[in-house]
Amino acid sequence: MPQTINYGRGAFEKVGEEAAGKGKKALIISDKIMDQLGYVQEGKNHLSQADVNSVVYLGVESEPTDVYVEEAVSLCEKENCDVVISIGGGSCIDTAKAVAVLATNGGYIGDYMGGNKKASIDPFPHIAVPTTAGTGSEATDATIITNTTTDVKMMIKQPAFMPDIAIVDPLFTMSSPQNVTAATGVDALSHAVEAYISRKSHPMTDVLALSAMKLIVTNIEKAYENGDDLEAREAMCLGSLQAGMAFSNSSVCLVHGMSRPIGALFHVPHGYSNAMLLPAVLEFSKEDAVERLADLGAIFMKDDEEYTTAESAELAVESVKKLCLNLNIPNLSGWGIEQQKFESVISKMASDALASGSPGNNPRVPEQMEIEELYRTCYNYSFSAASTAR
Ligand SMILES: NC(=O)c1ccc[n+]([C@@H]2O[C@H](COP(=O)([O-])OP(=O)(O)OC[C@H]3O[C@@H](n4cnc5c(N)ncnc54)[C@H](O)[C@@H]3O)[C@@H](O)[C@H]2O)c1
Ligand SMILES: [Fe+2]
Repeated sequence: MPQTINYGRGAFEKVGEEAAGKGKKALIISDKIMDQLGYVQEGKNHLSQADVNSVVYLGVESEPTDVYVEEAVSLCEKENCDVVISIGGGSCIDTAKAVAVLATNGGYIGDYMGGNKKASIDPFPHIAVPTTAGTGSEATDATIITNTTTDVKMMIKQPAFMPDIAIVDPLFTMSSPQNVTAATGVDALSHAVEAYISRKSHPMTDVLALSAMKLIVTNIEKAYENGDDLEAREAMCLGSLQAGMAFSNSSVCLVHGMSRPIGALFHVPHGYSNAMLLPAVLEFSKEDAVERLADLGAIFMKDDEEYTTAESAELAVESVKKLCLNLNIPNLSGWGIEQQKFESVISKMASDALASGSPGNNPRVPEQMEIEELYRTCYNYSFSAASTAR
């Protein structure tokens, strides 16, 4: 976990003070939308009040690539920065994580995948400020960067990528548009559920995952339907942060393993590609995770209802499916992915998913052919198909 977590309305005001304790010149890594919303200028103001100079890199776009990382590292070196601050969604935070490590350890970001190269030198201090709820990246030791040569979304996990300080200010998420709220919210739900059903889960991560599942299930539709609902936004930020902590110490599983190749090849935003897979993958995993999924089902249950464990697990799968329907999640076909093109890369996607290691943490560990079949099922998946739960 980060050394320090500042959480709550207005927490961002602490960014100057926190940065002053870490360095003299900050590289702010953000994107053009954050700049237009005034968040970057607000950050610069807080920093200058604390006598911290700053320069800004605004080149990040969704699903960050090795190219943005290289550009931002060059700027960091040229400007002699000594602390990195990310303001944005997971894309900005992940770029900043890579920059903080490469600035002191050097090399290409892909070298650090699979523990091939270890970041043995302390990275630059990193203050992460999420504006989505979300990836939870502010509290994870993973960074996800696309290799533009191989079209692989690299999942790189080492302790050095953990931000030193997270500033989680729900006020930033108020401007998140409906589609981003839906996608990032389902990402957070996927983190919580996968952390909970993972073979790597343990009692400490269970506490975080259960709390996150409850917060997210109860608030995601409220935040989606009314973006001005501050209490729902706040609950989603807390849920997303807890889900990040949970999966960083447990793991994600098959949904994330299968989701990254879709993001890399078809540029589907991460939350949407998770949502397109989540109900079908839970159905696939159910028999080997009945008790865990029954706990998720219990969150959807009304007070006076009584279910057997098996029925509650089924309720979990059907309720997640309905949630996706209410959030207007399209299937892969509905997103506009051409069937022949999709079919032609299914084998590569399944091997890339397996190579990432995430499917190996799933309660039911799939074979290559089973992953390929799941991709086919999800292509035309119906979120509105009649429920088999009572
Ligand atoms: N490192 C991790 O632990 C981890 C975990 C999950 C996902 N990820 C990665 O994070 C990336 C996705 O991050 P994301 O889902 O947060 O989306 P994002 O950062 O790509 O942002 C999506 C869009 O929403 C905009 N946006 C963000 N916050 C906004 C706000 N408050 N108001 C208005 N617009 C806003 C952004 O400018 C962008 O256009 C993916 O690359 C994914 O693989 C990383
Ligand atoms: Fe995710």
